[in-house]
Amino acid sequence: MQTGESAPKPQRIGVPREVFPGEKRVATVPDVVAKLVKLGFEVMVEQGAGELADLSDAAYVEAGASIAPSADALWSGSDIVFKVRAPTSDEVALMHPGQTLIGFLWPAQNPELMQQLAAKKVTALSIDALPRTLSRAQKMDALTSMAGVSGYRAVVEAANAFGRFFNGQITAAGKVPPAKVFIAGAGVAGLAAIGAAASLGAIVRANDTRAEVADQVVSLGGEFVKVDYEEEGSGGGGYAKVMSEGFQAAQRAMYAQQAREVDIIITTALIPGKPAPKLITAEMVQSMKPGSVIVDMAAEQGGNCELTEPGKAVVKHGVTIVGYTDLASRMARQSSTLYGTNLFRLTEELCKTKDGVINVNMEDDAIRGLTVIKDGEITWPAPALVVAPKPAPKPAAAVSEKKGGHGHGSSGPMPVKTLTMVFGLGALAFWAIGAYAPAAFLGHFTVFVLACFIGNMVVWNVTPALHTPLMSVTNAISSIIVIGALVQIVPPESGANGRPDQLILWLAFAGIVLTAVNMFGGFAVTRRMLDMFRK
Ligand code: NAI
Repeated sequence: MQTGESAPKPQRIGVPREVFPGEKRVATVPDVVAKLVKLGFEVMVEQGAGELADLSDAAYVEAGASIAPSADALWSGSDIVFKVRAPTSDEVALMHPGQTLIGFLWPAQNPELMQQLAAKKVTALSIDALPRTLSRAQKMDALTSMAGVSGYRAVVEAANAFGRFFNGQITAAGKVPPAKVFIAGAGVAGLAAIGAAASLGAIVRANDTRAEVADQVVSLGGEFVKVDYEEEGSGGGGYAKVMSEGFQAAQRAMYAQQAREVDIIITTALIPGKPAPKLITAEMVQSMKPGSVIVDMAAEQGGNCELTEPGKAVVKHGVTIVGYTDLASRMARQSSTLYGTNLFRLTEELCKTKDGVINVNMEDDAIRGLTVIKDGEITWPAPALVVAPKPAPKPAAAVSEKKGGHGHGSSGPMPVKTLTMVFGLGALAFWAIGAYAPAAFLGHFTVFVLACFIGNMVVWNVTPALHTPLMSVTNAISSIIVIGALVQIVPPESGANGRPDQLILWLAFAGIVLTAVNMFGGFAVTRRMLDMFRK
């Protein structure tokens, strides 16, 4: 559609002020406006749209946006509208055919809105419907960025309501034990909460029905607490499933014990399309120490705690229960920046031609997934993504057959026959070199081949994540060349030709200084890197 002689007219992206009560976020920020303009778009922002996120109209104008004096002017003057929350009926009424809307629309929960938008003959992209498991989609994953902000904020809210330090302290006024924090559900929000609480110095424990998150919990400084019951908790797509009665009983017993021990509980447990599982009972709340805190991040979906009141912080049995449903909005500038960047990445995908005109390409898996209405036609839900099948494991019989030397498949580990041939050829080459090359060469060559072999074996068996510390420690070890400089600087035994001349002496001295920096610096940097992995 953009192949005509003259360049296509750039489209205008409009960013209205959010109208949902208490919503402080805005769908784009000045830094992102500048990038959108670079991509060829015009950008228009409604007056005061960023005010509650501390973003002034002047900052938007400076970045290249124009300011619309009213919502009416904004909606009618935009080809594409970026929103945070789903539009209200009044906002839908301001839309016109051919317009494109991008925001959190939650099509499953808002069937009426879908009908209204379809009737308006618009195209709607619901950012929450993005296929998150596509690695290419991660940069556009606003659910993840908002959950990350919310998890962090949950810890801030807990710290605010908790009357003590998170970290243990020994002061002249006495010893303070570290706070104990228990996180229920270690998805994106839970992991962010674990990281934030651990970095404040608390002892952090976490539980999830999906056993595969245990390593992630540990890598963020938490301890994974297992339920004493064997059951697979994965419900597909990285999400959880409803667990059996038996599991739930065992989990309740473990949670009851944690409730008695810890000071703060942060719950994030959700199951797509289902009410939040009730994990913290009224009795558990009652068993907690006075002054303890519960932050229920699942409050909007019914809450993980029986006593949560969505949208409020209440005190029950001496425990503060925070049920805020706007945690991301409480860090409006941060979440607007992340959300704006997610939408910019999406816009890049929609406008590969960089000419300010989008193309909603339904052949693209990521775009198809989040397009819920195309030109007035409801296209939600998208067909399930076809995941490339995993290569079937080789039957044991076939493997042992190959071990016997009869197999000659083209994939998998090198067959014994080929391996024998490679070694045979190598030995032949070695014999030929030994027969004709000078004796000194053969010695050096042997050391070289062995060094290559050992180096390869060492690096190959190190996990890729540790390659950077490995490089720095190897660099430090390479300072062994300091021996050369030391040999030069040491006065020879009596009877030799005398001290080396001044130039050699100073060069050797400089060599020792530089290699010492390399050596000690290398080990120090490696240690710091490994410490980062230990956190
Ligand atoms: P979510 O918000 O739906 O659920 C939060 C957590 O609660 C999940 O970890 C879930 O297992 C846990 N949970 C549910 N019921 C529970 C129960 N009864 N007891 C204890 N824990 C319970 O999930 P979220 O955070 O949106 O994403 C979950 C997962 O999705 C991620 O951890 C990841 O594996 C996957 N994901 C993958 C992405 C990718 O591949 N690019 C991107 C984002 C998420």
